[in-house]
Amino acid sequence: MCGIVGVLGQHEVAPLLVEALKRLEYRGYDSAGIATIHDGHLDRRRAVGKLVNLSDKLVHEPLAGKSGVGHTRWATHGAPTETNAHPHKAGPVAVVHNGIIENFRELRAKVTAAGYQFTTDTDTETIALLAQSYLDAGMSHVDAAMATINELEGAFALCFLFDGQDDLLIAARHGPPLAIGHGDGEMFVGSDAIALAPLTHLITYLEDGDRAVVTRTSVEIFDETGAQVQRERREIRLDSARIEKAGHKHFMAKEIAEQPTVIGEALSYYLSGDGRRIVLPDPGLDFSAYDRVVMVACGTAYFACFAAKYWFEKVARLPVEIDVASEFRYREPPVSPRTLAIFVSQSGETADTLAALRYMKGKAATIASVVNVPESSIARESDVALPILAGVEVGVASTKAFSCQLTVLALLALEAARARGTINDAALDDHLTSLRTLPGIMTRALDLDETLNEVSQALSEATDVLFLGRGQMYPIAHEGALKLKEISYIHAEAYASGELKHGPIALIDAHMPVIVFAPHDALFEKTVSNMQEVMARGGKVLLVSDRVGLEIASEGVWRTVQMPEVPDFLAPIVYAIPAQLIAYHTAVAKGTDVDQPRNLAKSVTVE
Ligand code: F6R
Repeated sequence: MCGIVGVLGQHEVAPLLVEALKRLEYRGYDSAGIATIHDGHLDRRRAVGKLVNLSDKLVHEPLAGKSGVGHTRWATHGAPTETNAHPHKAGPVAVVHNGIIENFRELRAKVTAAGYQFTTDTDTETIALLAQSYLDAGMSHVDAAMATINELEGAFALCFLFDGQDDLLIAARHGPPLAIGHGDGEMFVGSDAIALAPLTHLITYLEDGDRAVVTRTSVEIFDETGAQVQRERREIRLDSARIEKAGHKHFMAKEIAEQPTVIGEALSYYLSGDGRRIVLPDPGLDFSAYDRVVMVACGTAYFACFAAKYWFEKVARLPVEIDVASEFRYREPPVSPRTLAIFVSQSGETADTLAALRYMKGKAATIASVVNVPESSIARESDVALPILAGVEVGVASTKAFSCQLTVLALLALEAARARGTINDAALDDHLTSLRTLPGIMTRALDLDETLNEVSQALSEATDVLFLGRGQMYPIAHEGALKLKEISYIHAEAYASGELKHGPIALIDAHMPVIVFAPHDALFEKTVSNMQEVMARGGKVLLVSDRVGLEIASEGVWRTVQMPEVPDFLAPIVYAIPAQLIAYHTAVAKGTDVDQPRNLAKSVTVE
């Protein structure tokens, strides 16, 4: 989603703005721009496509000045053209915006009726023109910005810069996150701490509804009612190693490789010193108070919920309903007061997931979230926030966050089982013992990198790929298909292997690879029968299984990948690795933009 940065600095600001935008690239974007004030005069440069295009433009048409705003745009209203790129400018006002202004048609009509003319297709230009109209009516800069913000409906993070005002930024948050960075005689605004990391470690996160009046030496924050408020100033030290590629070709490759480490960190956070007890952060969860679980998320995080459903139902005997947030929020599901609602989100800012969480407030017994960003809206609005401790995830395609979400959800399912008495001590001990070996097993799965690379060269020729799985491998088939689609642009679908014969088997031919995730577990023979049905129709199968599975079922398959032996309960977490590496190597073979695939955004703050 769009990224925002604002700087009131002591030095030339254009290079700082471009650098900060580079750090926001991971969010996904299709155009970028900056505006600065030089000698009291506001000027801007914008370019379609990657930031390098903006940098090139700045070489030929530099922008001087020590105050400025910058933006990476992920198009919502209006195509990704230079005209529609931010900052938007109307007379003396420049504005950058992340989100959607829902009442922009109404406001556009009002501003047009007042004689102002639009030059773009965007909702954002409405904000700039509205502010200009208030300035023309004689309001001060601060009052004009506040009056404008008061009229906006929808989701927005905004930053205003004004002609002739070298020491003023006005920022507002209504939905998407925005942070103020405190420097020494300098002040910053950014969509997240990553944007601001090298500029300052002192950050204030604006709360929903906040507006901030920022100068080089002061920040005044007002809430939605206009009352001045104090917000905590936190020291944030982002380990820069975590936001660099550390020798890998792509962030995604680095993040896949980091999984044993970050899972190890999550395990040490949630396990007691002797590793034999699960310890949830305060205030914990009272599993005797629930008779069902509702899990809601989007995309990859939804597939983590899907896998967790199998665990909760099997070991804790708790019925679990799962849904994608964009559907859940509008279908007005009835909610029993004995419901534990769990929202899973890497960013903690996904608009649909946040809206679903708000729907459940006051209805469910407890709102819990499984999040990667502890300061995020979803974490802050939950009764219990369970961190996944994956560290900063930069690649747009979620990898290490997925396996950490799975790890935390597996622990939660086991804790539910313990508290509800549906598991005995010995079985729980076995599960915890195998969980402690998970980082080691993940490392062995990562050793298959070269094998998976070879297979992926062949897969990169395909136009369609089918993923099959049964039981707890079915969600992983979905995750494999999603990863492949999003970064290689190859069409991929996932089916429960038993469902194939009810329709999709008609697609089978010699051209469409069928990837089967099938560890040698209780359902193995069933999956193999479905695989035989594919091969009997000329389908070419890539079987991902373990030694025993491959000994039984390799005959006649197109390719095999031999996974390490994995305790059944943990198989979804370990089999996520081939799903990720297949997508990664296929995308590299196709030469796509692995870390920033087209049309995608990392943090989806609009619905
Ligand atoms: C896919 C991917 C997305 C996200 C989804 C939810 O690789 O990353 O499908 O999982 O947009 O995002 P979060 O987890 O931030 O709520």
